[in-house]
Amino acid sequence: MRTPLVAGNWKMNGSATLAEAFGHAFTEATLPEGLEVVICPPFPYLEAAQRAFDGTPLHLGAQTLNPLHSGAHTGEVSGRMLGEFGVRYALVGHSERRQLYRENDEQVFDRLLAALSVGLTPALCVGETLSERDAGHTMEVVLRQTGFVMSRLEPEQRQRIVIAYEPVWAIGTGRTATPKQAQEVMAAIREHQARHDHELASGLRLLYGGSMNADNAAELLAQPDIDGGLVGGASLKVDDFLAICQSAS
Ligand code: G3P
Repeated sequence: MRTPLVAGNWKMNGSATLAEAFGHAFTEATLPEGLEVVICPPFPYLEAAQRAFDGTPLHLGAQTLNPLHSGAHTGEVSGRMLGEFGVRYALVGHSERRQLYRENDEQVFDRLLAALSVGLTPALCVGETLSERDAGHTMEVVLRQTGFVMSRLEPEQRQRIVIAYEPVWAIGTGRTATPKQAQEVMAAIREHQARHDHELASGLRLLYGGSMNADNAAELLAQPDIDGGLVGGASLKVDDFLAICQSAS
C-alpha cells in the first residue's frame, strides 16, 4: 500500500504570512487517512513555516539543495542546513532547474545523493517538453531521466525515492495532462522499475505535477499509478491546495 503524498511547490513565491495561513487552515483540516502533505517554500520562509506548521499535518520540503555540506558556494544551501529547519523532503531535478539553471542528469543525481545522505526524502522530477512529446519521445525522455538516477542507486536508496512526473508543457500553462496521458507515462515508469525490482516498483510513490488544481485533482489522483501530486500555482491558494489534498485517497 503506497502512502499518498501531495506537495506544494511555491517556487519563488509566497510569504511568511502565507505559511501562517496554511498552518491555521491545516490545523483544523480533515484529511484522507495516511495522506502526507508537504509544502516547499522559498528558503527565506523555512523558519516561519517551521513555526507555523508545528502541530499540524504539514511537513516541510526544499525546492533544491547544493550537493555539498558546506563551503565557498555563494548563494547556495546545503541539505544539512535544511535539516536544521525540520525539512524532510527535497525536490531534485525540477524542470525549471534543468532548463533555467542548466542542471544536467549528473548534477541532479548529485543533489539526490546529498538529500539521501542527510536523511531527506528526494522527489526526483522528470518530464518531457512539448516538442519531445510531439516527436513521440515522451517515454524515451522520461525513462532516461528516471533510469539515469535509479540505476546508480543501491536498492535501499531506491526505496526512499519519490518520482514526480511533470510534463513540462503542463507546468504553469493551465494545460493539464489528461488522466489517461498521465497514467500511461506513470505506469511506464513503474513497469520500467519493475524489470529490475518488482517489490520496489510496487512500493514506489509516483506524483503527477503540471497544472493540477481543485477541479482536476480527483480524477488524476484516482488513477492506479498516481500516488499524489506536485502542485505549483494552486499550492499558493490555501483553499485550493486543501481541496486537492482532500481529493487524495
Ligand atoms: O513543481 C510543481 C510545478 O512544476 C507545477 O506547477 O503551476 O503547473 O501546478 P503548476
